[in-house]
Amino acid sequence: MLVAPSILSANFGKLNEDIKAICDGGCDLIHVDVMDGHFVPNMTIGPVVVNSVAKIATKPLDVHLMVENNTFFVELFASLKPEYISFHIESEKHPHRLIQKIKSYGIKPAIVLNPHTTPESIEYLLEDLDMVLLMSVNPGFGGQKFISSVIEKASKLKKLIDKRNPNCLIQVDGGVNDKNIEQLKNAGVDVVVAGSYVFGNEDYSKAIKSLQI
Ligand code: DX5
Ligand code: ZN
Repeated sequence: MLVAPSILSANFGKLNEDIKAICDGGCDLIHVDVMDGHFVPNMTIGPVVVNSVAKIATKPLDVHLMVENNTFFVELFASLKPEYISFHIESEKHPHRLIQKIKSYGIKPAIVLNPHTTPESIEYLLEDLDMVLLMSVNPGFGGQKFISSVIEKASKLKKLIDKRNPNCLIQVDGGVNDKNIEQLKNAGVDVVVAGSYVFGNEDYSKAIKSLQI
């Protein structure tokens, strides 16, 4: 299991130290939550802060857009060369076109599904995707309770992925901890995002390793 700590739960007063600690602590990706105050009722960080994160990070960035105007934000973040940019299917009228745009920058495209959205709704996009992110909370905030129906959803998605594009990864974001990690693994999940679980632990490295099962 790959682990992507969400810096939404980091201490922004000492962000550089926290970034260094998760990288040295063995994380696989750095999950960056971008919110616009429209698609979700919260706002976070933009390219200025993410640019300084990118400079000190020794692990690749995984940018999760929670915004209305996806194309604008893709263009804004493309120059920071993240490994992945993920966008919500619920806020995009032309997902196929946007996937091609993300690829044209040499960035891996991913699509995010809110808790109510079915995996079948993106079946015909799977062959063009590197990852699908299943939300296991409602997007907008860290520290929420895990919505356990994501386990069944991940199993369904896994079947579609095996049929359409076995290279596509499944990522789960929200309320992930050492209590639900095994179920996620058994359902075929490849990558987990963990914010409050990692940054709420005294020892980030120990928390990260407890999820890398
Ligand atoms: C929620 C974000 C998550 C969040 C996860 O909108 O997408 O990445 O930071 O935080 P935890 O792990 O605390 O649920
Ligand atoms: Zn996220």
